[in-house]
Amino acid sequence: MCYGCGVAEDRDMADTISAAIRDAPEPPEPLDARTARREFAPRGAFLNTASYGLPPRGAHEAMLAAERDRAAGLLTTGMGDEAVRRARALFGRLVGLPPERIACGPQVSYFVGLVAASLPARATVLVADGDFTSLLFPFLARPGLVVRSVPLERIAGAVDGDVDLVAVSAVQSADGRVAAMDELIGAARAHGARVLLDATQAVGWLPVPADRVDLLVCGGYKWLMGPRGTCFLAGTAEALAELPAIGAGWYAGADVWDSIYGAPLRLAGDARRLDLSPAWQSWVGQVPALELLARVGVAAVHAHDLALANRFRAGLGLPPGDSAIVSVPVAEGTAELLAAHEVIAAVRAGRLRCAFHLSTSEQDVDRALELLSGRVTAGARRDDQPR
Ligand SMILES: Cc1ncc(COP(=O)(O)O)c(C=O)c1O
Repeated sequence: MCYGCGVAEDRDMADTISAAIRDAPEPPEPLDARTARREFAPRGAFLNTASYGLPPRGAHEAMLAAERDRAAGLLTTGMGDEAVRRARALFGRLVGLPPERIACGPQVSYFVGLVAASLPARATVLVADGDFTSLLFPFLARPGLVVRSVPLERIAGAVDGDVDLVAVSAVQSADGRVAAMDELIGAARAHGARVLLDATQAVGWLPVPADRVDLLVCGGYKWLMGPRGTCFLAGTAEALAELPAIGAGWYAGADVWDSIYGAPLRLAGDARRLDLSPAWQSWVGQVPALELLARVGVAAVHAHDLALANRFRAGLGLPPGDSAIVSVPVAEGTAELLAAHEVIAAVRAGRLRCAFHLSTSEQDVDRALELLSGRVTAGARRDDQPR
């Protein structure tokens, strides 16, 4: 591709945007969660969205089409731009924020790194024990910050006047525990601390208070069912303005295609100043997945995913929970046994982690339960104890 000579051409060629993106219904046509299951083609029972989400058929096809276009020399940068534009708008609709307050990049840790870089020396960051390292390492790697770690259940109570930022996952990757977000936001406000919420394990199935936190980061490849390589950072105008655009390249320019050569610095005036140049095929694949979520609606996805998770819990003799991720202690070799029967789950923090999303059916849950019979061991936690 010729960046220099193709500006006008690229704009013209935006006309050739793949049908999967261009022809998406606007506003979305409603779809019920059970019917949405038909959009997925797992080989067996897939209970592993907490590791990576399955693409709905349209998303998979759009990404493959983009890759075929690349092989044929027909990929256009206009196509990538349009995919990012639509993904940003769709994500905004999902969390209730305008696109001007959403940046697009590749990974959670990159955006968290910008937040870490923005903090003054000796700032105190409060985190939860055992949280995902893409949320922790950028703060730990920045010399001079004080990182205080407490159990998730005590994080709201641990906010005091010394804390500058609370950085926590809305839903824990390791075991699906849901943070007490209202309590935490209230405590942070009372003490003048900012909140950075990592919603990677939440947005897509759990309504999140995006308009009440200072910053929210969300990877696209799990519950948003995109390919690896898409991530969103949303925030208040004030919090975003304080982030240094130290990863800025041509894609962070006020007019992207007028920002490819030469000084002076001319960054976008909104959250786009934090964008990184997109992995084109990934963003093309992200759009139809976000469209499917918009069609089903977060409330319906939430009800669907929780119903499956609680069916699973009931089958194991556990009380109902509030998470689409269920983590249980199991006998050694259980994940392998499940995999041999095409039931896909993960082992995290020494426990079996099962995740339930639009790509999961009741039959999938029952199949997993059959195989798990007699293999769940007594756990240490209160919610491990069968009733
Ligand atoms: C809470 C959370 N944040 C972030 C990530 C991924 O981070 P990154 O995009 O830096 O790979 C994961 C992946 O499991 C996660 O569970």
